[in-house]
Amino acid sequence: MAQAPMDAIALLKADHRKVEDLFAKFESAKGDGAKRKLAEQICMELTIHTQIEEDIFYPACEGKVEEDLLKEAYVEHDGAKVLIAQIEAGGPDDEFYDAKVKVLSEEIEHHVEEEEKRVEGMFAQAKKAGLDMDALGEQMAAEKERLMSRYKKDGLPTPKTTTFTAPGPA
Ligand SMILES: [Fe+2]
Ligand SMILES: [Fe+2]
Repeated sequence: MAQAPMDAIALLKADHRKVEDLFAKFESAKGDGAKRKLAEQICMELTIHTQIEEDIFYPACEGKVEEDLLKEAYVEHDGAKVLIAQIEAGGPDDEFYDAKVKVLSEEIEHHVEEEEKRVEGMFAQAKKAGLDMDALGEQMAAEKERLMSRYKKDGLPTPKTTTFTAPGPA
């Protein structure tokens, strides 16, 4: 469906708000069916979001954004992927299911803050460095659409970590 084009930061922030909303809904959800559906949506959104950041946005930030911050972002993504794989492989009747979703939401909350923080956050630094946010936004929107239709059809792939070898789902 046609959408008004968003610049890179608007697109990524909209994703963040969407996932925050899904986490809030999960927290108040009653019943296993509702929880599973929300958790699956969270995993889908986060998988696509981390992927477009790692494939498109972060590489564009290379050399323009504090290196430590960028490196930490990759490690934080990888931490999230471990929990996403666990949640994907499990279900609401697992003893630690809700805890995993909660811890994932806390990790993401921290990560989003590092990206969105005023002045020294990643997005603020990238903007200051003059990245072409319109072009990046367009690229990411197209990639998002492509991944969404693929994953809806085939299911989510096992997440690939960049910074360490993660143990697979138990
Ligand atoms: Fe993000
Ligand atoms: Fe990120």
